[in-house]
Amino acid sequence: MSTDLGMGEALENPFAELDGSTRHSGPLALVIFGASGDLTARKLLPALAHLAARRALDPAVNIVGVARTEMGDEDFRKLARDCVPSPSPAWETICARGRYIQGDYGHPDTFSKLKDVLAQLETEQTGSGNRLYYLATIPEMFPVVAEALGEHGLASEEHGFARLVIEKPFGRDLQSAEQLDASVHKYFSESQVYRIDHYMGKETVQNVLALRFANAIFEPIWNRRYVDHVQVTVAESLGVEHRGGFYETAGALRDIVQNHVMQVLTLTLMEPPGGDAESIRDEKMKVLRSMEIPTPAQVATSVVRAQYDRGWVGGKEVPGYREEEGVSPQSKTETFFAMKLLVDNWRWSGVPLYVRTGKRLPRRFTEVAMQFQRVPHLPFVGSNASQLGANALVLRIQPDEGITLRFGAKVPGQEFRLRTVSMDFSYGGAFLEETPDAYERLLLDAMVGDPTLFIRSDEVRHAWQVVDPVLESYADPAFPLARYVAGTWGPPEAEALLRSEGRIWGIL
Ligand code: BG6
Repeated sequence: MSTDLGMGEALENPFAELDGSTRHSGPLALVIFGASGDLTARKLLPALAHLAARRALDPAVNIVGVARTEMGDEDFRKLARDCVPSPSPAWETICARGRYIQGDYGHPDTFSKLKDVLAQLETEQTGSGNRLYYLATIPEMFPVVAEALGEHGLASEEHGFARLVIEKPFGRDLQSAEQLDASVHKYFSESQVYRIDHYMGKETVQNVLALRFANAIFEPIWNRRYVDHVQVTVAESLGVEHRGGFYETAGALRDIVQNHVMQVLTLTLMEPPGGDAESIRDEKMKVLRSMEIPTPAQVATSVVRAQYDRGWVGGKEVPGYREEEGVSPQSKTETFFAMKLLVDNWRWSGVPLYVRTGKRLPRRFTEVAMQFQRVPHLPFVGSNASQLGANALVLRIQPDEGITLRFGAKVPGQEFRLRTVSMDFSYGGAFLEETPDAYERLLLDAMVGDPTLFIRSDEVRHAWQVVDPVLESYADPAFPLARYVAGTWGPPEAEALLRSEGRIWGIL
């Protein structure tokens, strides 16, 4: 039996099928570990239901849920069917064959049962030995499940592919990330591993590639000769919701910057890739390798961490972080993080990259903003031209997806007065199709064997290398933890970080 669906091969060129509409999963068994959890109910099952509705899932896809929660096959089938308001007939058919295995991940019986169920489904129903294992458990279970699969012969590709999809976080520092990799690589080769960062599945994040490499006008100015600095903002208005316990062990740097922000930055800064899928990951990797690893002295001056206090967001009073459920009243976990990074390479040497992320900010938005240098000379005597803002190109990743170019224009009238104006592209206005959820894109990619948008082991390692010195500085009790009122744009220290270099946050 083939170890490939045959369809992955058609995806050699990563730009060839970015809408995914002609792709098809082929027959396979999808095993979800953590099947009774939040991620499965909120993201995975709805994404699968949508894929089924648009006929991207083969009718011979079998879904097997594994978790510790007491539940039977019928309960799991109902959970899957009810995850969307109106299930399509294709999804109903797949759900009707769903199987559920209740068991402890640390107990061999769970995996013996899984092996039997898979063998039964594959002989009686699909005739295919292709398997996709999805780790949607708590992170502590990732190595346990990966090793148990291997020990039970379930990582073998003798009768079809065996791929392992891993959710973030990939470790909590460099050392634990390497340990996780060692467990995973005991039985799975790197080509079998698909590490998900859902930001890579967002249409607008992929559009960074389209903007840069499908157009001739941006690339010539995309470098240190024209760009003054780059800002990446991931702002959230939500707090930690019901995830206080988890968030206490993470914080904004681990939760957002090490992964989502780094990924968006690599796509923004990388060199043009070659034509095959792996070359995108190679180019991203080169950016990470060129990122300056901060010294303790640099961490002290280029990092701001902060925590929110009680305040008002969207007209509602919200508790401070230390008052949230599952959070210690003395917690030092940061809910806001800002940092200046540098990439030491030919294209970006000396261009500061300012990144910031926070919970309980006034509104939710993610964007990458490139601010360009000012013109060398303004030939407008007696005008207000010197007060004009610099040119900027802002890639709006969410929620108001699009691109804005900011430039100066003459105000109509006798005087020569200038004002900053914007040219806007809006995704919603230009395309009528509904944007698929990031998980739809990534699940189908893993099924067809396209690794382009997944995170390679070396990328994870290098991202931790940049972040680790900051985490080490946190260990010093004197390392400052600033405070901000929920519903504001973070602490004054974050403003000061840019002001000291003559810049401000939020170019537009
Ligand atoms: C997750 C983080 O990875 O990303 C969450 O764990 C965060 O804390 C979420 O809220 C943000 O994702 P999105 O797609 O809403 O920007």
